[in-house]
Amino acid sequence: MHLPHRREYCFPAVGVLYGGHEALKVTKFKNYLIQFFPGGVKVEVEEGSSLLEAARRAGYLLRTECGGRGTCRRCKVQIQAGEVFTAGIPNLSVKERAQNYTLACLARITGDLEVRIPSKSEFSFSPEALPTELSPGEHPGREITSLSLPVDPLVRVLQVQVPVATQQDNASDFDRLCRALTKSGLSEPIQADLSVLRRLPSFLRENKGTLRLLLKPGPEGTEILDLWQDSKINPYGMALDIGTTTLFARLLELSSGEVAAETSDFNWQIPCGTDIIHRIVHAGKPDGLKELRRLVVDATESLVDQMVKDTHTTRDQIVAVVLAGNATMEHLFLGIEPRFIREDPYTPAVTRFPSLTAAQIGLNLPPFAPVVISPCVASYVGGDITAGLLAAGVHRDERLTLYVDLGTNGEVALGNRDFLTACACSAGPAFEGSGVRSGMRALLGAIDQVQSDPKGQLLFRVIGGGSPQGICGSGLIDLLAQLHATGRITARGKFNREADPERIRGAGRRAELLLVNTGQMDDSSEIVISETDLDNLIRTKGAIFAGIMTLLKGVGLEASAIQRVVIAGGFGRYLDVESAIRIGMLPDLPRNRFEYIGNGSLRGAGLALLSGRLRQELDEISRRITYFELSTWPGYMDEFMAALFLPHTDISLFPSVQGRQ
Ligand code: FES
Repeated sequence: MHLPHRREYCFPAVGVLYGGHEALKVTKFKNYLIQFFPGGVKVEVEEGSSLLEAARRAGYLLRTECGGRGTCRRCKVQIQAGEVFTAGIPNLSVKERAQNYTLACLARITGDLEVRIPSKSEFSFSPEALPTELSPGEHPGREITSLSLPVDPLVRVLQVQVPVATQQDNASDFDRLCRALTKSGLSEPIQADLSVLRRLPSFLRENKGTLRLLLKPGPEGTEILDLWQDSKINPYGMALDIGTTTLFARLLELSSGEVAAETSDFNWQIPCGTDIIHRIVHAGKPDGLKELRRLVVDATESLVDQMVKDTHTTRDQIVAVVLAGNATMEHLFLGIEPRFIREDPYTPAVTRFPSLTAAQIGLNLPPFAPVVISPCVASYVGGDITAGLLAAGVHRDERLTLYVDLGTNGEVALGNRDFLTACACSAGPAFEGSGVRSGMRALLGAIDQVQSDPKGQLLFRVIGGGSPQGICGSGLIDLLAQLHATGRITARGKFNREADPERIRGAGRRAELLLVNTGQMDDSSEIVISETDLDNLIRTKGAIFAGIMTLLKGVGLEASAIQRVVIAGGFGRYLDVESAIRIGMLPDLPRNRFEYIGNGSLRGAGLALLSGRLRQELDEISRRITYFELSTWPGYMDEFMAALFLPHTDISLFPSVQGRQ
């Protein structure tokens, strides 16, 4: 049954197609062949599947900033042959419709197709397209030494000499080995896997009692993980940051703590939903959780392949893993039901994870390789935040530190070596490009910086140069600051048409400001900011500032008491602190108190991989944090309402901004 291209229908999941007023019964789903260009990849999919899903199966990762709701237009593709059924009203111009463009998230397969994917619609896997949060100059081993701690990795190699059995000492091979290990200072009991015991007798004799052992030492005993023959190979460990959008991996040489390789990729789960809420919804579908787990594990395997190739090592040498991510990502990686994270009272299944192995979580590494999952605090303060606090050393510092992770939820922590508090601000994904018409993530083609010249003309900087495709979080923060500073918007985020009559058009909720003229881009789109976008952005910045103020008031302190502000998160590298203060998102403090930590989660995971003491501290951080649940916290809503103003209803909180207004 072929339905006309781009007719607007709703499409129920179970076999009945409604076309206008007629209902069309589908008795049996057929398979159709979809071919994608460029590349010509063919994939066979079931009738009724979404074109977005078909593209994903063919290996094309389309951009889906609105989570498949048909509003962001990022998944725009061109049908070159065949027809699709459109579930909803696609947000496309008459010209685009005439050229057979459709939105892949709304298009349903009803026949064989040939589809062209414009380069702008696809996530690019080129390294420049990824957020640059990796810092090859870092040396976690030296960082640990500078804390006066030994490099004490999760797994280590030890060479021991086991005495030969004699008539006087005919204790078992394993008992003689245990004696030798105890003499080396390793804690008891000493245990070994059956596979080690099976190989021990001949291995011991072939090597004349000299054994190279792979050990997992711990305060409560020592585990012998493997016997290694080759004296030249070194053990490596992997630190992993599982973000909702991006995965970062770092291969560390375990004995020195040196970074051997690092790499990143988009999270392959993106087509199943751009934010954690959509992923949780997807996990609730039949086999959805299995699929999400497979995608993130497969993406991780591809990072391992890349690092193994770069370093000429083998997978057998990667003998330990520390993984950090938000609570939902950690649940999905382990295949744990995340459903209740998004349902009142927002309860994760687990916050502190048991000791795991690569075999248990399905990673193609030595099966015994221990895997540590960074502990969470609550549903929306996850292992990425505890690892970030470890990396920033907030729990060891006597200075009062504010830690701000600028992601979808805007997690904020406040504390020092005496206390730790944290909250998730429900800031929403506006700074990640969602809910803002021309918004996008900090990828190639994103406007990441906005300034104005002395005449008030807006000037844009684009990541990677070239024509802009949208505007990312740091650009939006700059833009808000510049629009206010140049009088184009009021303190309430409403357009002042007289300030720029040529660019401000429409009225009321439809009012918008044209940022990039038609023709400046490589298609007919425009980059605009609307009053609805401004409203979203002000709510987002307001939520972050209200979270900060709630934590401060909760511990009876004022913003001026903050001695250090650590910024982490996806677009933190591009963030202009001055703009963030001018719009009232961050407290008005001396600028030298602000620092950018890079990928705090990855750094923390690396440190935990290399130091037993820091692994213990990571666990302590998660236990010490007092979590503020803002949805029910008294006073939070008042703080939020007061912050819905540029910079704030209480201007005395922003003395440096006040002077410039
Ligand atoms: S319009 Fe398709 S994902 Fe946003």
